[in-house]
Amino acid sequence: MAASAEGRDERASPVGRDDDSNEQEVNPWSVRGGEKGIDYAKLIEKFGSQAIDKELLDRMERVTGRQVHHFLRRRIFFSHRDMNAVLDNYESKKPFYLYTGRGPSSEAMHLGHLIPFLFTKHVQELFDIPLVIQLTDDEKFLWKDITLEESYRLAYENAKDIIACGFDVDKTFIFTDLDYVSCEPMFYRNILKVRKCVTFNQVKGIFGFTESDSTGKIAFPAVQAVPAFSNSFPKIFGDRTDIFCLIPCAIDQDPYFRMTRDVAPRLGYLKPALIHSTFFPALQGPKSKMSASDPTSSIFLTDSPAQIKKKINKYAFSGGRDTVEEHRQHGGDTAIDVSYQYLSFFLDDDEKLAHIKEDYESGRMLTGELKKVLIDVLTKLVDGHRERRKAVTDDVVRQFMTPRPLNFDKSCK
Ligand code: TRP
Repeated sequence: MAASAEGRDERASPVGRDDDSNEQEVNPWSVRGGEKGIDYAKLIEKFGSQAIDKELLDRMERVTGRQVHHFLRRRIFFSHRDMNAVLDNYESKKPFYLYTGRGPSSEAMHLGHLIPFLFTKHVQELFDIPLVIQLTDDEKFLWKDITLEESYRLAYENAKDIIACGFDVDKTFIFTDLDYVSCEPMFYRNILKVRKCVTFNQVKGIFGFTESDSTGKIAFPAVQAVPAFSNSFPKIFGDRTDIFCLIPCAIDQDPYFRMTRDVAPRLGYLKPALIHSTFFPALQGPKSKMSASDPTSSIFLTDSPAQIKKKINKYAFSGGRDTVEEHRQHGGDTAIDVSYQYLSFFLDDDEKLAHIKEDYESGRMLTGELKKVLIDVLTKLVDGHRERRKAVTDDVVRQFMTPRPLNFDKSCK
């Protein structure tokens, strides 16, 4: 099997806590940038992952025969572990699968939450492989002031938004941890195997837990680890342990998978590969990711066209100049302009985006005009999502969430 670590691997350093002047902090529970936002190059160095470079993208295009997704062209997905092994697998026609997830902490998902799912859907179609999606209702119960019932309910609500992204029911299994522990013995067995391998000292080092954190939190990381092992899904993969896993996620989830990759060989399992995204900036600026608890920081998938228009016009941080005269003379700064950055996430037409950049930076295009382009793009996107979500009935959700065989080529040469 080609799934071995390539070159430099994870380090034992604690999670992205920076002691020097930049003060950025990135871990699964808090994301805080320094003066100029998040320094992603520094994160790659700290976490010991690899930058997605031109060589890798060229290879992807050669192997798949398709232009890479604009999230890759624009380095919105910017870092990885073992992507070359994924491509080796694909080239030698060995089966592999995708794993991603979401912590259901709020009813309404925002645009930022869509990024990993949109990318995962693209990758699923590109390689034609099965996908498992974990909804960590247990994690949110442990970390937030929320009941088990509420967390479980939110998981089902979020499943509808995830399904509305357009996943193929024949190739996709969605589960909540609360459901899956009680119906799949292999899930809990793998969780226990991981827990036996990981000491308190190790999770303390990786996640920054302290003695006053609940034992629920300390035990949780094993739950997020095991969907990366194919035999956690006997209905899909039987008892096979040799089916390689690729995990698309935001970079703040990396600590979980550093731990996973560390224990995998000790259990006789394969290390999963990873592909990491940057954070979607808040409307107010790129210093942190959006917060579902602050309605003015984000565009929600439930926002009406009027709300979208108002939020962007009122809150989207502008890189434009103070007066029209100054703007015409000096132009706007796309590096800090949130509307421009949102367009780089959601406008896939490179040529159009390049024109906008040119026009804005030269002062030909004003902030109001840039915002109008964005409002049009997002209104279409959110309207489309709302329509598709309406079509997701309880029955459709049940189909996605029933453990069952998925449709894929199991031959392993
Ligand atoms: N912990 C993640 C969150 O809070 C949810 C999650 C579970 C996840 N498994 C995953 C995210 C795998 C990415 C990949 O959102």
